[in-house]
Amino acid sequence: MKLESNSRTILPVIPGITLPPKRRVSVAIVAFATLLAGCSQTGARSGDGQSAATPVIHPAFPEGWAAKRERPPTVADHGMVVTNSPLASEAGVEILKKGGNAVDAAVAVGFALEVTYPFAGNIGGGGFMVIRMANGQALAVDYRETAPLAATRDMYIENGKLTQKSTVGALASGVPGSVAGMAAALAKYGTMSLHDVMQPAIRLAADGFVVDSALSHSLSSSGRLIKQFAGAAVFFPNGEAPAPGTRLRQPQLAQTLTLIADQGPSAFYSGPIADAIVAQMQHDGGIITRADLAAYKPVMREPIVGKYRGYTLYAMPPSSSGGVTTIEILNQLETWKTLPPFNSAAYKHLLAETFQRAFIDRNTKLGDPAFVTNPLAMLTDKAYAKQLTSTITPDRATPSPVFSAAAEPMHTTHYSVVDGAGNAVSTTTTLNSGYGSGVFIAGGGFFMNDEMDDFAAQPGKPNQFGLVQGEINAIQPGKRMLSAMSPTIVLDRDGKLMMVVGAAGGPTIITGVTQVILNVIDQHMSLPDAMFAPRVHGQAWPDVLTYEAGGLSQAAMDSLTAMGHNLRATNALTNVNALLRGADGRWVGVYEPRSTGAAVGY
Ligand code: GLY
Repeated sequence: MKLESNSRTILPVIPGITLPPKRRVSVAIVAFATLLAGCSQTGARSGDGQSAATPVIHPAFPEGWAAKRERPPTVADHGMVVTNSPLASEAGVEILKKGGNAVDAAVAVGFALEVTYPFAGNIGGGGFMVIRMANGQALAVDYRETAPLAATRDMYIENGKLTQKSTVGALASGVPGSVAGMAAALAKYGTMSLHDVMQPAIRLAADGFVVDSALSHSLSSSGRLIKQFAGAAVFFPNGEAPAPGTRLRQPQLAQTLTLIADQGPSAFYSGPIADAIVAQMQHDGGIITRADLAAYKPVMREPIVGKYRGYTLYAMPPSSSGGVTTIEILNQLETWKTLPPFNSAAYKHLLAETFQRAFIDRNTKLGDPAFVTNPLAMLTDKAYAKQLTSTITPDRATPSPVFSAAAEPMHTTHYSVVDGAGNAVSTTTTLNSGYGSGVFIAGGGFFMNDEMDDFAAQPGKPNQFGLVQGEINAIQPGKRMLSAMSPTIVLDRDGKLMMVVGAAGGPTIITGVTQVILNVIDQHMSLPDAMFAPRVHGQAWPDVLTYEAGGLSQAAMDSLTAMGHNLRATNALTNVNALLRGADGRWVGVYEPRSTGAAVGY
């Protein structure tokens, strides 16, 4: 399958794309389908009516880009929640208005997304949360899934070839971490009970909500996958996805959420929900046992802290590669006193070269710290960055060396939350592919992840994308698979909270988040412009520079091609949700202009 590049397309457009149930497809296609899976949903909400006027389009954007749809920001005095689901954003603000802090609101959002955004869920999945409290305390909560204890290194290889079992079906699931992770974050820094923060999600599941065109389309597009498993009865009761305008009730999920709210995470990991998960695993041929669920523990980590031109970044350490790789890119770019103009070939060349160098390290040197040694000090060292950039030539692309890459499917979601006291939470969670492995826990009412595919299922050999991943990320029982998720919090030069940002989109998460930060800090863009600005992506392998169709001028494309960059067009890159403190101290929230969502403030 190939994407047509169409610089005249007004984004977002609902394509007639139906994702095949087996989703080993090209990076470009997956990104496109992911970003548009929820498109055309409700526009930006203005909270209590403080929406700012649509800003002027940045003069550096190429001709035609302005015709694409830029979303107006939401501006608020007290707090802000930005997610891919308007109802989940509202759930977060409901908790803030009740006096909850950003952590309370983030946990409310996480459970609400399970109900209103089943595409990425995600109590059947996992994620990462970076928290920075107004008093300066910071924490990175790692609730990444783990490989089941019965997992083996070659479990997805048959007759020397990779099967599809790491992406579809019960064998694809890692042990879910979200319920334990969110509860642990709440226990550490929340002010409300799990019971109370879960009420909006329980209400949405029990009373139902009106399905919009985005959810209806998203479910239809994944119908072939979902209908293979127990979710068919919930989402395709008459063979069709719920039409826009119909009410979707999820009584089984409401019961599951009520059990968690009343009994805590033990209901999920050793109680009736554990029973339902194990029963479904046995029915569908999976290997997750009660022992796996009982053994699951989130890990509280120190965030990775980086400095870029005097700004401070709090980012996610391994088992996500996101923070290290973002900081390694920024450290390289900081070796230039000033960066070339935004849409020049020279700037995109620098991005491509620094992305490439950081991804080579990411793909070969990082893995679960419980199993491998991550050279974090070296990779985030400014002197090392200087060494890397000494090999960049201003007018010539560096070919990627032969071997290894980590390609990651891209069905994830990010939410950014800030409260009136200046506490901030940046959370990215995932089921991996849209609707995860497709396996639906009938006795629980939720989809299970297919996170096992983020491991190097066949180290040293091309997978079905034609890519190769390193041994460091090979499957081992109990190990966390390497992620690209990059929930990030940025402080300004005075150490004051400035920005909360993160994204969905597999490896494009790292480059997308980095570009939004660069657009704000170096290009001095407003947040709406920084989010709307055309993006590029490179990950070393395959040795291509992907760009958004219409996002580069012909002159820039000609120059980049002449330098030796292999350009490839795609319709949309990365799904970012961000908020920024404006010059007047108020919060500006922008959800991804290429996708669905809402920034809701108060
Ligand atoms: N499943 C996408 C990631 O963790 O990077």
